[in-house]
Amino acid sequence: MTTSDRIKYEYLRSKIMSAEEAAALIKSGDTVGMSGFTGSGYPKALPQALAAQIEAAHNAGDPFKIGLWTGASTGPELDGALAKADAINYRLPYNSDPIEREKINRAEMDYFDLHLSHVAPMVWQGFFGKLDIAVIEVTGVREDGSLIPATSIGNNKTWIDRAEKVILEVNSWHDERIEGMHDIYYGTALPPNRVPIPMMHANDRIGQPTFRCDPHKVVGIIETDLPDKNAPFPPLDDVSRTIAGQLMDFLKWEVKKGRLTNRLLPLQSGVGNVANAVLDGLLDSPFHDLMAYTEVIQDGMMDLIDSGKMLCASSTAFGLSDKAAKRFRENLEDYHDKIILRPQEISNHPEVIRRLGTISMNGMIEADIYGNVNSTHVMGSRIMNGIGGSGDFTRNAYLSCFVSPSFAKKGDISTIVPHVSHADHITQDVQVIITEQGLADLRGLPPKQRARLIIDNCSHPDYRPMLDDYFERSKKNALGLHTPMMPSEALSWHQRFIDTGSMRK
Ligand code: COA
Repeated sequence: MTTSDRIKYEYLRSKIMSAEEAAALIKSGDTVGMSGFTGSGYPKALPQALAAQIEAAHNAGDPFKIGLWTGASTGPELDGALAKADAINYRLPYNSDPIEREKINRAEMDYFDLHLSHVAPMVWQGFFGKLDIAVIEVTGVREDGSLIPATSIGNNKTWIDRAEKVILEVNSWHDERIEGMHDIYYGTALPPNRVPIPMMHANDRIGQPTFRCDPHKVVGIIETDLPDKNAPFPPLDDVSRTIAGQLMDFLKWEVKKGRLTNRLLPLQSGVGNVANAVLDGLLDSPFHDLMAYTEVIQDGMMDLIDSGKMLCASSTAFGLSDKAAKRFRENLEDYHDKIILRPQEISNHPEVIRRLGTISMNGMIEADIYGNVNSTHVMGSRIMNGIGGSGDFTRNAYLSCFVSPSFAKKGDISTIVPHVSHADHITQDVQVIITEQGLADLRGLPPKQRARLIIDNCSHPDYRPMLDDYFERSKKNALGLHTPMMPSEALSWHQRFIDTGSMRK
């Protein structure tokens, strides 16, 4: 089948053009909403053509730049190419591209990092201004002009609805059998007309399988045949496995106490190595008939589905290694009714997360002795990726857990510190912290008891005496003894790392 056979709505066939022609429709100063969430379902041809045009404009002395909105991170052909061309002046809501990260940290571009569930509602509320053009990768166009989504949904529905013009990339690399795995909910509205989201279970379908799109807004269609590109996962190491083991023991304890059953509650697992190890740990566990209500389906979730441990996974995107993506494509029929992709405003919706009662498990940069968590900024100032969905899930979960090694950079950094250098998740939202050293169950504990548990159970032995010393002196010297703190010393560990390359004394 040729790609244009995938455009079954006759009127739109006349809009087929090259990536270069479509890119020329984007003007300097435009705000562009592109599809893409992790390395899935992002446009691949247009961003590269646009990057080339912007580079040419820069060489001719034209300071061409765009604002770029997406679902979350994307692939190298999008964020990487545009960042390299110095094409972006404003980016939201999440990035993990290394070139872009450097530009942001060198103050060469602006970045607005926000909760992923907030993006679509805030765009509808008009908080971020006008969206000029949407560039959306799809699997195909149906006879009725509706669009068959690809491997991520993200904010596509909102971009298509809100943008003045729409450009489509119809990518024949996506398997057409994916049609029907998506659930696009059109019941959202602005206050005071909002109604409850009618989702009672993680595997409920509450919408339709395609995007609506006014065909008169479509100004160009590009045909491609290009693969999604996700960063490969490193092999699981002992530290990650130990952390996963601690979490499994804790979940078993919760079952013993009658607060969970062996079916657990819908699982949300963050991005990264440790989160993947946790999913791996579930394979060899007494838990069964599991569900996921999450934002990214990683390899570990596919393994759980394959093993029969997981019945259904709801998310907004795939974040699969090449190997797992191949397995998905080869056995797509087997996954068809076990995986649901939704708009990120629904996959991450606080109301739904609270109702379903998810178990959230996310990575972190650091936590402090009181259980505040920094997910985003190294040494308080250098952005790593962004908050992503970790805040959406953490605040609203039945059980909110953070997982991390107790050290980073070969031990020069302690991930348990006197005070976080940047706060993404406050102590009231964080219930459980797990490192390879152990687990701190903070539920119901006042600050000093939290500190004792985090220091004793989670910190690395090299740093534990230093934390003890800080905590004991704080209890004597602080202005208030509810949450003892010495402001002049609270961030001294970070300063020492900046000055000497190590937090060690
Ligand atoms: N100081 C400096 N660097 C640190 C650090 C610290 N306290 N803690 C971790 N890092 C570095 C690691 O050294 C590693 O760097 P490298 O890539 O150069 O090797 C990198 O951060 C990743 O750390 P790792 O321990 O492998 O954990 P991870 O892959 O689980 O990632 C986060 C941790 C916090 C970066 C990641 O979970 C994240 O971006 N979270 C925010 C978004 C989120 O939670 N999304 C999911 C919601 S659904």
